Amino acid sequence: MTSGSTPPVATKGRILSGIQPTGNLHLGNYLGAIRNWVALQNDFECLFCIVDLHAITVWQEPAALTHATREVAAGMIAAGIDPVANALFVQSHVPAHAQLAWVFNCVARLGWLNRMTQFKDKAGKDREKASAGLYVYPNLMAADILVYKATHVPVGEDQKQHLELARDIAQKFNSDYGVEVFPQPEPVIRGPGMRVMSLRDGSKKMSKSDPSDFSRINMTDDADAIAGKVRKATTDPHPLPDSVAGLEGRAEAANLLNIYAALTDQTLEQVVTEQAGQQFSGFKAKLTDTAVAVLGPINAEMKRLMNDPAEIDKVLARGAAKANAIAEPVLAEVYRTVGFLSR
Ligand code: TYM
Repeated sequence: MTSGSTPPVATKGRILSGIQPTGNLHLGNYLGAIRNWVALQNDFECLFCIVDLHAITVWQEPAALTHATREVAAGMIAAGIDPVANALFVQSHVPAHAQLAWVFNCVARLGWLNRMTQFKDKAGKDREKASAGLYVYPNLMAADILVYKATHVPVGEDQKQHLELARDIAQKFNSDYGVEVFPQPEPVIRGPGMRVMSLRDGSKKMSKSDPSDFSRINMTDDADAIAGKVRKATTDPHPLPDSVAGLEGRAEAANLLNIYAALTDQTLEQVVTEQAGQQFSGFKAKLTDTAVAVLGPINAEMKRLMNDPAEIDKVLARGAAKANAIAEPVLAEVYRTVGFLSR
């Protein structure tokens, strides 16, 4: 580890965000996260991390994890992330994440972790069988952010609680040691479609871990697959309402309209007005065309990039070098603050 002073945070602010390589990237990842990262990349110094350490908090087939790690990188580049201007890297390539996470395991309180809804959801009924890693997952996420002293964290709404925990950890660390080492990272949650729900059940979020592939539109789906999934998406027997209030109690209709609004860069109000009185069949055809138009070129570029894994690995190695150069001095500062004997 190198010591020395921490590089200053860029005046415009520094973004860190992450995504798990746990299967297919889907429309929720795109609309809730990646698309926003693309929009923010020119205004901030950005670090985008493929969080493989997080992924193994639940079982991953090793070969599938390796494949998904490259595929997520390809998806991000295909969607418009510039891997030269930003740092695009793999979490396990930057050891300071895990090292800082240990310190945070000793800062965060059990009571804080007990409140995390994602742990409750993912652990399910048989909590005794959940990995210890799944329980301390939010501490690692706090380390991902704070090891870069990131000021802004663009995430979907589902990650808001974890981000609040990261803020609590930053504050407790600073106050326990009487320092101002960490900033309070701000969530950046924007735009419609920030919580994309399952196509089968409008009360569940669209997720890589849903056993039904019909619950999500993957960024690797071709036009036929997208059409089939939208056609089969759960709906109700009524035509589309003429006001947002009319979506009350119609979670599936609300979800499809929200997705359409996000894909066409409109507000939900605009889309509801435009589609008022339509039958689902007509609206679904429109939604399919729009999703294919947006995802088709990304899908094609992802496939092209995946044909050259060595090139993806090169890009990720460059990203890791950039990330390590920022993270190592921050970790050294933390170790000094805590009182660890310097090497
Ligand atoms: P992950 O891998 O589940 O999702 C990556 C990003 O996609 C967003 N997202 C969604 N947005 C809208 N609707 C959905 N259905 C949907 N599903 C996923 C997530 O909000 C996220 O922004 N714990 C994080 C990964 C992480 C991270 C971090 C994020 C690890 N360290 C540090 C930010 C900063 C996660 O599991 O995301």
